[in-house]
Amino acid sequence: MSNARVNILFVCLGNICRSPTAHGVFIKKLQDAELSDLIHVDSCGTGSWHVGAEPDQRTQAAAMARGYDLSDLRARKFEDQDFGQYDYILAMDVRNLADVIKDAPYDYDGKLQLFLDYSDVEHLSEVPDPYYGGRDGFDRVLSLIESASEGLVKHLQQDLIGETA
Ligand code: 4NP
Repeated sequence: MSNARVNILFVCLGNICRSPTAHGVFIKKLQDAELSDLIHVDSCGTGSWHVGAEPDQRTQAAAMARGYDLSDLRARKFEDQDFGQYDYILAMDVRNLADVIKDAPYDYDGKLQLFLDYSDVEHLSEVPDPYYGGRDGFDRVLSLIESASEGLVKHLQQDLIGETA
């Protein structure tokens, strides 16, 4: 159990492409904003095929090219206990979100939403699954995730300032 003020969980299907990218990018954005001590971050997948695996090599290469090292991350599956620990459960696409919502306790009072709700990218609500596509897809994932991460940091800054005001 973390002692952080806010606990955030990123969710995709395999936890080897999109959610580890969000995990690594968001941690870097928190460091830049000096919020790391207040916020705990993790990521997971709704599927179990890749449990224990490091992020996909294409994901790691695309992230490293922008300065994010994802090599320490290991895939895990979403668990029902996550509802008890996480204040924000942020899904990459509608299918991931529906898979989490179907198991949510009726009294879960955290936020269950799409990560791109925090992005300023218009006309796009999901981070597309890059697994079966080309290299461009991994770059696109990074750009979308950088945008949503910046939006989420701003949102949390407002929330935390509001709490202490
Ligand atoms: P992710 O991508 O959900 O962004 O980690 C995928 C990884 C693996 C598979 C699908 C999507 N898969 O079918 O194994």
